[in-house]
Amino acid sequence: MNIDVTGQKVVSDLSAVGSRHTGEWLVKYMKREVAINGKKHIKNLKTSGADIEKLAKWLATLNAK
Ligand code: HEM
Repeated sequence: MNIDVTGQKVVSDLSAVGSRHTGEWLVKYMKREVAINGKKHIKNLKTSGADIEKLAKWLATLNAK
């Protein structure tokens, strides 16, 4: 969780999420099977199976500098 200049809570910047997690971990995180600092993802994404796999594969390629 980040805080922006106005002091509001904003959700994570995912532009380099591939440098922090593997595709396998991302699949688990989106299924809420793993946590970050003891917290599972706030949203239970209403998608499943192949969609989650595709999304995780793409997220894992993100590595903005
Ligand atoms: C397709 C939709 C979404 C995807 C693929 C997604 C994916 C992710 C991923 C991969 C992370 C981990 C980021 C990291 O390790 O830096 C994350 C964190 C987070 N997401 Fe989402 N998210 C989605 C939608 C949402 C929505 C709709 C909300 C809130 C309404 C949300 C709230 C958060 C929060 C608060 C965190 C930070 C958790 C922490 O750092 O403790 N996400 N999300």
